[in-house]
Amino acid sequence: MTTASSTAGRAPLSAPDIRARKGDGTPLVMVTAYDFPSAAVADGAGVDMILVGDTLAMVVLGHEDTLHVTIDDMAHHVAAAARARPLALLVGDLPWLSYHVSDEETVRNAAQLVRAGAGAVKLEGGRKRLGAIEAILDAEIPVMGHVGLTPQSIHAVGGFKVQGKQLDAARAIVDDAVALAEAGCFAIVLECVPDAVARLVTDSVPVPTIGIGAGRHCDGQVLVYHDLLGLEDRMKPKFVRRYASLKADATAAVARYADDVRSGRFPSSDETYHVADDVAEAIGLYGTTPA
Ligand code: KIV
Repeated sequence: MTTASSTAGRAPLSAPDIRARKGDGTPLVMVTAYDFPSAAVADGAGVDMILVGDTLAMVVLGHEDTLHVTIDDMAHHVAAAARARPLALLVGDLPWLSYHVSDEETVRNAAQLVRAGAGAVKLEGGRKRLGAIEAILDAEIPVMGHVGLTPQSIHAVGGFKVQGKQLDAARAIVDDAVALAEAGCFAIVLECVPDAVARLVTDSVPVPTIGIGAGRHCDGQVLVYHDLLGLEDRMKPKFVRRYASLKADATAAVARYADDVRSGRFPSSDETYHVADDVAEAIGLYGTTPA
């Protein structure tokens, strides 16, 4: 639900539009969203890209990691976000095991997110995932890459840890990003890497890098909606900046409502439907004229 004021002067963004923003001097803005209201908020704020991320599993569904969502879960939430008709590019995240089994399954899963309303898909991993990326691109679906910390690999890498701190690991991240760009990814998420590594990747690829926990030397930034709004408070990684305290505000608001109900202050007469006095009298509904 994009409002007239938020659409003023804005055109819908495509993956080629995002790709063309490399080096234009204005950082790209991406935020996650998972449903109609969050996508409407993000688009109303004028972001460039909305990612329906597999963080859905954690911040919306309450799991401890991102491994618990399926392609059907993701498609359900992409469809809800797409109903906000955002002008931002809507990117659907391919969940764990949706692009690991075969190229055919990979393309069908990517297509499911496109049919749900995504204009591009994202998947995690470097050179290992080139086959999957090429198959999806061959089906004319734009792909966003994701290197550095790839949360779908937490069991393999031993947890949510900063990646690329040693020389070999840093070089591998750069090589992965270069391979993804050469394969045709229109942008690459860089998650939890030191800023020097992010700078090297950003300088090495001809497509925008979108950082999360990767410092300022990226072509854009992404944050998780629930983190930036203070809706998620189970953990606060170093890279999260909170712009609101919505969990605390919402809890206080619901507590005020509960208090008003228990004390009889809600609902008031103004919040109540009434019949005309003569009708009330005739049906004897209230005994006396309604207040
Ligand atoms: O799923 C997600 O929210 C993501 C971002 C953290 C980039 O992949």
